Amino acid sequence: MEYFGRYGGFNEGDPSSPYRLSDTQNRFTVIGCSALALISDYDGTGYQGLGVATCRNLSDLVNGSCSGMGCSQTTIPKRMYYYDTTFSASVNTSQIWEFNRCSYAVLMEAAAFKFSTTYVNTNKFNDTYNGRVPMILEWAIRDVKSCDAAKQNTTGTYACLSANSKCVDSTNDQGYTCNCTNGYAGNPYLLDGCKGVTMGLFGLMVIVMITIFWGQMILQKRKLNKVKQEYFRKHGGVLLFDKMKSEKGLAFNVFSEAELIHATDNFDSSRIIGKGGHGTVYKGIIKNMSVAIKRCAVVDERQKKEFGQEMLILSQINHKNVVKLLGCCLEVEVPILVYEFVLNGTLFELIHGKNQASQISFNTLLRIAHEAAEGLSFLHLYASPPIIHGDVKSSNILLDDNYMAKVSDFGASILVPSDKEQFVTMVQGTCGYLDPEYMQTCQLTDKSDVYSFGVILLEILTGQLPLKLEGSEKQRSLSLIFLSAMKENNLEAVLVNHVKGQESMELLRGLADLAKKCLDMCGDNRPSMKEVADELNRLRKLSLHPWVQLGVETEVENLLGGDTTGGYEIELSGYPMGESENQPINPRSSYYAR
Ligand SMILES: *[C@@H]1O[C@H](CO)[C@@H](O)[C@H](O)[C@H]1NC(C)=O
Repeated sequence: MEYFGRYGGFNEGDPSSPYRLSDTQNRFTVIGCSALALISDYDGTGYQGLGVATCRNLSDLVNGSCSGMGCSQTTIPKRMYYYDTTFSASVNTSQIWEFNRCSYAVLMEAAAFKFSTTYVNTNKFNDTYNGRVPMILEWAIRDVKSCDAAKQNTTGTYACLSANSKCVDSTNDQGYTCNCTNGYAGNPYLLDGCKGVTMGLFGLMVIVMITIFWGQMILQKRKLNKVKQEYFRKHGGVLLFDKMKSEKGLAFNVFSEAELIHATDNFDSSRIIGKGGHGTVYKGIIKNMSVAIKRCAVVDERQKKEFGQEMLILSQINHKNVVKLLGCCLEVEVPILVYEFVLNGTLFELIHGKNQASQISFNTLLRIAHEAAEGLSFLHLYASPPIIHGDVKSSNILLDDNYMAKVSDFGASILVPSDKEQFVTMVQGTCGYLDPEYMQTCQLTDKSDVYSFGVILLEILTGQLPLKLEGSEKQRSLSLIFLSAMKENNLEAVLVNHVKGQESMELLRGLADLAKKCLDMCGDNRPSMKEVADELNRLRKLSLHPWVQLGVETEVENLLGGDTTGGYEIELSGYPMGESENQPINPRSSYYAR
């Protein structure tokens, strides 16, 4: 017969208690290397079970494994409300006592136990749980056998009082418990204790969904902002901002992408007012003011870095013959520029539009050309290196409500690289206006603009498009036609009908000579834009005062008060007025086509 020494247990329980030791969640756990433990029901009259844990040495043990080596777990039967444990004292411990001084046997919650080899050779097990292990008890109303019996009980002790509650039979010993039915929560043992949670649950779901939605939005926005900031930095926006801070009063705006999207109806195609090599121009409205918003074509990396810098230079340009740059947006992949809106069309439309050429006086065209030349000259002389337009053409000469010329579309053209190694790889400009030298050298210079401007002068003289799509190769290019006519001393052959005979040949020849100089194959031989502007100014005076002969303009200028810059007189409806006289010259009589 073996002797079991009494060790411990759970002996508060008695048969009338509503609690039972959970058979599903507890395990009789024995730790040791020569441990034989007995678990018994009340007074040893009921159930008796054994737990055995053995080992030879510590190396037999595995962390987390409790299946006999140093540790064992056994289940207990249902309906236990009490237990006792004792160890067998007859086990020979002589082989293991040196490393395993203590054995343990306890009924505990299985989920709360994880075997560690240190439980065998140290006090760690006791320390981990502070001498008290968790155990699961199952409660139920035990005075009747089951739900059915409880419901039939006429004495009225059925406990599931609440509407929307249901009775559940106990799974461990007799008895029952109550639960609220699906969609309800609360205390099922009270009248009206179960309350509907459907609404609450629905509300909760809505809140959760809104939270998720907002979270996503914020995340997206953060991501977008990061991208925007990246673009902003790439495009030199930081530099621009620094400069703007140091130069207060700079009338330049950095617009957000959202502002520009709002201003253009999300860049709606109906808002497009122009397309060019440099990008697309939209009409937009910002703060009740019409603006032209230009979305640049893709720019290369080198340009990107200098973009902010360029914007700063361009933004400071303030000339009445240059379209004002109001601001830019750098937080997008390709920068967007915002210009003042100039509403009266372009020089191109004036020359080539239907019924236009015959109505616009030659004088007005000459004035517009002079103003445009002043604007371009200003760009060239404004900064060093010069700001080169790069796409001078009649459709880039805009006209305001007084038909005053404004050079547009200069912003996306690049500053001339000061480093001569940096060649522009992208061909820019418009066919028919392209500097032949630039085509060969790929180096855009201020003289490239002069060449293109020469083509504009030809358009004014001839009323022809710079490039015709029909005809032989030589007949296609207006500049070639013109140059060969000049060679044959046959200028009249190319002049537009309504100027022939109307204007003095001196004037026309002067203009043709200027155009010819501009169109010189060699850029160095071409006049500067300033010289072109001065010559146009001289020719204008000649046209306004036909009695003045070429060659005596100096006297005339003195006579007129030495105004050599020109283009500053107030003009109404596009008709020129005398510069010193108050008497307007009526252009209808002298310049209108008949
Ligand atoms: C078991 O884990 C304990 C730490 O929890 C560690 O001290 C012990 O060495 C491990 N035993 C084995 C055999 O890996």
